[in-house]
Amino acid sequence: MDFHTQTMTAGGTGRVAADALLLLLVGDAVPAALDAALAAAVADAVKQGDLALKPGRTAYLRQVAGVKAPRVAVAVAKDASAKAIKAATAAGIALIKGLGVKHLAVWVAGGSALDAAQAEAVAAAAADAVYVYRTTKPSAAEAPVLAKLTLLAASKAEAQAAEGGLALGAAIAEGVALARELANRPGNHCTPTLLAAEARKMGKAQGLKVEVMDRKQIEKLGMGSFLSVAQGSDEPPRFIVMHYRGAAKTQAPLVLVGKGITFDSGGISLKPGAEMDEMKFDMGGAASVIGTMRAVSQLKPQLNIIGVVASCENMPSGRALKPGDVVTSMSGQTIEVLNTDAEGRLILCDALTYVERFKPAAVVDIATLTGACVIALGAVRSGLFSPDDGLAAELLAAGDAALDPCWRMPTDDEYDEGLKSNFADIANIAGRAGGAITAAMFLKRFTAKLRWAHLDIAATAWKSGPAKGGTGRPVGLLTHWLLSQAK
Ligand code: BES
Ligand code: MN
Ligand code: ZN
Repeated sequence: MDFHTQTMTAGGTGRVAADALLLLLVGDAVPAALDAALAAAVADAVKQGDLALKPGRTAYLRQVAGVKAPRVAVAVAKDASAKAIKAATAAGIALIKGLGVKHLAVWVAGGSALDAAQAEAVAAAAADAVYVYRTTKPSAAEAPVLAKLTLLAASKAEAQAAEGGLALGAAIAEGVALARELANRPGNHCTPTLLAAEARKMGKAQGLKVEVMDRKQIEKLGMGSFLSVAQGSDEPPRFIVMHYRGAAKTQAPLVLVGKGITFDSGGISLKPGAEMDEMKFDMGGAASVIGTMRAVSQLKPQLNIIGVVASCENMPSGRALKPGDVVTSMSGQTIEVLNTDAEGRLILCDALTYVERFKPAAVVDIATLTGACVIALGAVRSGLFSPDDGLAAELLAAGDAALDPCWRMPTDDEYDEGLKSNFADIANIAGRAGGAITAAMFLKRFTAKLRWAHLDIAATAWKSGPAKGGTGRPVGLLTHWLLSQAK
């Protein structure tokens, strides 16, 4: 989708040539600054009971006298925050769904000056509304034809601020759409091999260097823990490394590490059948890393960024990893596998050891790691774990700014105790209590040389129920965090 701004002279809203005008009303009164014709139409809709000036309410008006656009959608925002503007934009666009609107003009009325965060929110909501999964569903509704969005500004300064916000929102939206697409593809399509091919394709289009390692090369690196998960599947594993270079070679890179389990059956510790199909989304962390690499390569910050994905299937078979097996990680630490369904940490630990070679400024891993995190935080905020207060604060702030929030969980040493094993340096599970935290503590054992944080996106990477599908989270959070490091 194309995003533009247009600076209006006083009373110009009605003259905008678009297929529809979306009027976002901030607050509970019809703003005085509206064009006379538009103000009269809105006031009339309120008077007739067609529009309540309450957050979330909408109205559809046709052929408003004095307004060039044939359709006017009105949506009421709770306040001028980016979050409220995003919700109102989504509600307004839902109103014109199916009407063939190709060019939408958006006017935020009643708040203070239009800012970058609001513009980013408008772009995010619009891009979100036009995504339709079609790859394995040819009968799916045609994607909405909305292709151009013009955000109206009251001054040059507003337009300039909005321009930046739209560009950021658009780049994130591209990354989110890619992450959603990869996550939505079923496990028999989205194999580790396909994930690597998609990363290559994205890298080629965006000018990134992409390396893909196969089983032999992974063996050579000594990733015994990663390979122990992969060994039960007939699908070969892939280890993907994407390089974005935006600064001098000497500048330490920021590194993202994604969990790329393209299907998690649980392995020999087989999962129950209900909703097992959703375990195709267990590569949501990997999808968010690939999507974020796409977003940053469009935004071109003066940074060096490396995206790493460890990808395989977790399957039961005659060759599969068994409970009680002891494997040797790339770090040299031995691991007693007490539950083969705690496989995410087994692949991530080797990826975290691998990235030491980059001497990174910071490393963030992203993983659909634990059902316990779903219980702890639900689908609103991702779980954030880091022993580094500064890094945790950066990620919290980035999540809030991106409307893709996370919440910090503890990493006290006491939580490590349950990971003791009689037969290896560490066990891959502790008790049921604090399961998201003990998973993070397992990873922490492999990050002594890193400035590290872990995001558990088990609840936020996809939605269940009728709207089942990938969300593209936390591409927004990660992109905001990376950009914040360039300043
Ligand atoms: N991929 C799952 C985590 C998950 C569960 C994500 C539900 C989203 C929804 C992970 O590999 C897993 O199976 N974790 C186990 C760990 C347990 C065996 C310690 C879990 O959470 O049950
Ligand atoms: Mn599992
Ligand atoms: Zn898993």
